[in-house]
Amino acid sequence: MPTIVFIHPDNRSESIDAVVGESAMQAATGNGIDEIVAECGGNAMCATCHVYVDENWIGRLAAMGDEENALLDGVATERQPSSRLSCQIKIEQGLDGLVLRLPERQV
Ligand code: FES
Repeated sequence: MPTIVFIHPDNRSESIDAVVGESAMQAATGNGIDEIVAECGGNAMCATCHVYVDENWIGRLAAMGDEENALLDGVATERQPSSRLSCQIKIEQGLDGLVLRLPERQV
């Protein structure tokens, strides 16, 4: 089971066990990571599942699609080069140890 490390806005880190094949958003919401709102349930329509991917990991994720790229322009906190929508990050065994930083707010 890959472990995903979420860093809260207050720098507290929380490690959770994710399931291969689910999204990072599902791993977060299923494990009580409240900063991930995920209003649309993972359909790439709401941008309330925004995360900042740790710089050591950003290049190891699959490239984002046009839809995700467009939605990231509407996130509630500043978009950065490391910004991704967690519902579009598919968990694989190779992502064991992935570090995702949580923004201050999603709406
Ligand atoms: S959950 Fe809505 S865009 Fe990710």
